[in-house]
Amino acid sequence: MTKNEKLNGWVKEWAELCQPDSIHWCDGSEEENQMLMDMMVKNGNCIKLNDDKRPQSYYFQSDPSDVARVENRTFICSVKEEDAGPSNNWSDPAVMKDTLRPLYRGCMKGRTMYIIPFSMGPLGSEISHIGIEITDSPYVVANMRIMTRMGKAVLDILGEDGSFVPCVHSVGAPLQPGEKDRKWPCAPDIDNKYITHFPETNEIWSFGSGYGGNALLGKKCFALRIASNMARREGWLAEHMLIMGITSPRGVKKYFAAAFPSACGKTNLAMLIPTIPGWKVETVGDDIAWMKFGEDGRLYAINPEYGFFGVAPNTSMKTNPNAMLSCRANTIFTNTALTPDGDIWWEGIGYDIPEGSITWTDEKYDPASGKPASHPNARFTAPAGQCPVIDSDWENPRGVPVSAILFGGRRPDTLPLVYQSFDWNHGVFVGSIAGSEVTAAAIGLKAGVRRDPFAMLPFCGYHMADYFAHWIKIGETAPDKNKLPRIFNVNWFRKDAGGNYLWPGYGDNIRALKWIFERLEGADNAVETAVGYVPKPESIDISGLEGIEKNLPELLKVDRNEWLAETELVAGHFESFGRKLPEELKKQFSDLRSRLDRIQ
Ligand code: OXD
Ligand code: MN
Repeated sequence: MTKNEKLNGWVKEWAELCQPDSIHWCDGSEEENQMLMDMMVKNGNCIKLNDDKRPQSYYFQSDPSDVARVENRTFICSVKEEDAGPSNNWSDPAVMKDTLRPLYRGCMKGRTMYIIPFSMGPLGSEISHIGIEITDSPYVVANMRIMTRMGKAVLDILGEDGSFVPCVHSVGAPLQPGEKDRKWPCAPDIDNKYITHFPETNEIWSFGSGYGGNALLGKKCFALRIASNMARREGWLAEHMLIMGITSPRGVKKYFAAAFPSACGKTNLAMLIPTIPGWKVETVGDDIAWMKFGEDGRLYAINPEYGFFGVAPNTSMKTNPNAMLSCRANTIFTNTALTPDGDIWWEGIGYDIPEGSITWTDEKYDPASGKPASHPNARFTAPAGQCPVIDSDWENPRGVPVSAILFGGRRPDTLPLVYQSFDWNHGVFVGSIAGSEVTAAAIGLKAGVRRDPFAMLPFCGYHMADYFAHWIKIGETAPDKNKLPRIFNVNWFRKDAGGNYLWPGYGDNIRALKWIFERLEGADNAVETAVGYVPKPESIDISGLEGIEKNLPELLKVDRNEWLAETELVAGHFESFGRKLPEELKKQFSDLRSRLDRIQ
């Protein structure tokens, strides 16, 4: 199927090991997609939704044991353990391969092996990279066709000697002759699921799960864990960031990239509908940014993805109309509820569940059961091009120039609504201490602040402290330091003493973005504090917002005692990185302590 000898040899080697019944090279065409969807409907893997409600869309229910990324089964297999660092599970690459080879042996019996050529990033962009995923899951093929540029055009670009990131995936559920397949095949035992990365050889081996980031290997595995290693070696950045374009009423446009931990509203921010007149937000990406310096010395970002793999619950025409419109057609829904008229439903969709709906566990919905109808991690896989506010440059192979980088998380106290770092290295410090409040209810996690530096904790494919050093180096080696993006922190989630949110969030977040925008244009709109530049209260546009003025002092407050408590927590966080923690961050930490000490 290709003249690329390396690719042919690699496919042959894996076919011999996995022993599929047949091999299918994906061309990415409409006909191929239809053939796969028809086959999955026929085999009972999914349901075609009502074309009048949700054209060309399909509904899947996963196995209840396979509903999310499995961080405790995710491994970075670097040669040296210290290169994986304290935030990753580590295994010796040879040992891991010896463990996995027997699992892969014969694992595709009774199934087809699909070969998916895909490009992360616009075809032919200098910032893009090619991957090839081998999988035995037609569900993965259909999702990869939405999430990446996939098919024959990619093989054409690869040519005879182009290089690619080899990604192997199997659901780990071979079929005996005559055995009927399950609705959602996967390895039922959690200890038999492995999401493994070999950073020195740029390889990904995934086994046993068919869900999301465990199986769609272009996303977290390649575009973050492997790409973060490539970026470190080659001097660029692979980040867990949305990219948005913001246009002011005067028609000036700037791009921001923003990192937030999972479940902090990245997709909502990327597609925000401004509540102040004249401002416009457009989406380049909602999850991942790859950034490289351009010839003009500015940092340019591309969205390596081609679709959105969005969390469905709580997405509504009120919270995120643009996401709702993005999944109006040609979408794959997984683990939502199914309505009797052939549409989907989820908690927080904005209207009551229709009588007779079916839950994600395939039972008739019973409100008395107390169980939700959709899984909290139910997803829509929708083409990015369907987003009503997709940016006109979202496919520009050069990327878009980034003027500001934002960090954030859910912090009920301490962190102001928005503040700017003093400079690049202070911004790296701000990113390195980012975190989000975890409530006691969150599975298996201790209540309190979960530090999630740069929102990369589960996605950085090497030692986090080396990653901080890489960010510092990017600042040092920038072709023109004056053109580096400015770095900010935002916090939409500050609460009053009674536990009520002080800030309305959603479309009103444009008000904080407007302050950042004006700051970039040189406005005198900030006061210098111990932690960074904080808005002068009158410089936050709250026109048309009832009752917020009285909250502003609290929203913008930098409280010495709260920050001293924060530094205690940060000290423990930094200690966890051991001797690799860059001196520059130690200096930033002690500078912050001395600035706080100077406050009376
Ligand atoms: C995601 C995540 O699914 O960050 O994007 O967990
Ligand atoms: Mn994410």
